[in-house]
Amino acid sequence: MNKVISGFSKLTKEQKIQWLTDNFLSDTEGSNPPRALGVMGGGILKKFWHNDPEFQKVFDGFSENTVSNFPIPLGIAPNFVINGKTYAIPMAIEESSVVAAASSAAKYWLERGGFHAEVLNTQKVGQVHFTWAGAVVNDKHQTLWDFFPELKKTILEETAFLTVNMRNRGGGVLDIELVDFTETEEEYYQLRVTFETCDSMGANFINSVLEEMGIVLTQFLTAKTGIAPVVVMSILSNYTPQCVVRAWVECDIEDFHDKDAAFYAEKFRKAVRIARIDPYRAVTHNKGIFNGIDAVVLATANDFRAIEACGHAYAACDGQYRSLSQCTIEGNHFKFWLDIPMAVGTVGGLTSLHPLAKLSLDILGNPSAQELMMIIATMGLAQNFAAVRSLVTTGIQKGHMKMHLSNILNHFNCTEGESEKTRQYFDDKTVSFSAVREYVEQLRKSELV
Ligand code: MEV
Repeated sequence: MNKVISGFSKLTKEQKIQWLTDNFLSDTEGSNPPRALGVMGGGILKKFWHNDPEFQKVFDGFSENTVSNFPIPLGIAPNFVINGKTYAIPMAIEESSVVAAASSAAKYWLERGGFHAEVLNTQKVGQVHFTWAGAVVNDKHQTLWDFFPELKKTILEETAFLTVNMRNRGGGVLDIELVDFTETEEEYYQLRVTFETCDSMGANFINSVLEEMGIVLTQFLTAKTGIAPVVVMSILSNYTPQCVVRAWVECDIEDFHDKDAAFYAEKFRKAVRIARIDPYRAVTHNKGIFNGIDAVVLATANDFRAIEACGHAYAACDGQYRSLSQCTIEGNHFKFWLDIPMAVGTVGGLTSLHPLAKLSLDILGNPSAQELMMIIATMGLAQNFAAVRSLVTTGIQKGHMKMHLSNILNHFNCTEGESEKTRQYFDDKTVSFSAVREYVEQLRKSELV
């Protein structure tokens, strides 16, 4: 218990760092490589503070108890042609090979008509979860359905002050349904509300409206029946199966690969099919899709946890977890597509507060939310295409190991000459951390002699 602290949030950033140093750091020397926090005001955490205090203030404002920043590379995947328009797509990702794979898929499809994408629908969902014990009032059996038409009208009227701006932008509340769960949970009902939130992701808007709906619901039922409902919670649902975007590519079979095109196209189709029918493969397959999706979602400061949670639920919507992408070969025609829910925004939230998110959106031509949905889904498809194509042709390790080798060379602070020689040496050998270390050590010794 001696490391427990109260009032941590009240400490200054430097005091927080000092407290961490005193209580949790094993290496406080700041030795080589500089791993430690070091003394008050110094050390590695402070090295990652932004040198412009104004920027640092912005980052600190995003979260609580901040002590530093955690940088992730921002890369660009150029040459994406989507519905005839060319994009350079920003990707915030730490995993090597992802940006390279996206870029190579973009180039591949550039020569085959580019990517196609279409937004299928854009509805978001929120819920007011409540219990109500009023099925029998004054010996009279009453159901919520008796009151619901009037309740719905009242809720819409009394929340109008919160929805007016969104309605002026073309969105707002689309519908309110009453869902009766009393057979599975005593007295439990919900209002399931559908929303259109235009270019914003809409979480704050939806949650504010839902909380107000909970108040109106309580007042209404209490006044009508004398029995107050208990609002358990009011919150948006991150499951948005009615906010789905489709991205696809297609080509003639002979264009699929430079040799044995039909063989490789069929192998590719089979690999996607395996991910449709086997959850073990489906999870890895979908992970590859999210490699691309998360990177763009993060670069544009959208909520990647929401997108992931929803995508995985959608992948299991028929009761079995399946690949999100699908592939067909019909006659001479290869088609590969991805349908995925994508609740993102291009206004509100961090999109304009985070300077790099703002820049990313600028690079993308300041798209609407629907255009961004198409860009992100395309990136997911591209990433998936690149991964599966590698898997069914050369195998994945060749490309991965090239990047892995670069990381290891960096780790050993290799000079350009050392890197070049090591790369040549490992061209036809298996890369491992220990093998590279051994080779670099030998190289250094031999060069000393
Ligand atoms: C690695 O991050 C992603 C892959 O495993 C995806 C896949 O297997 O399809 C390469």
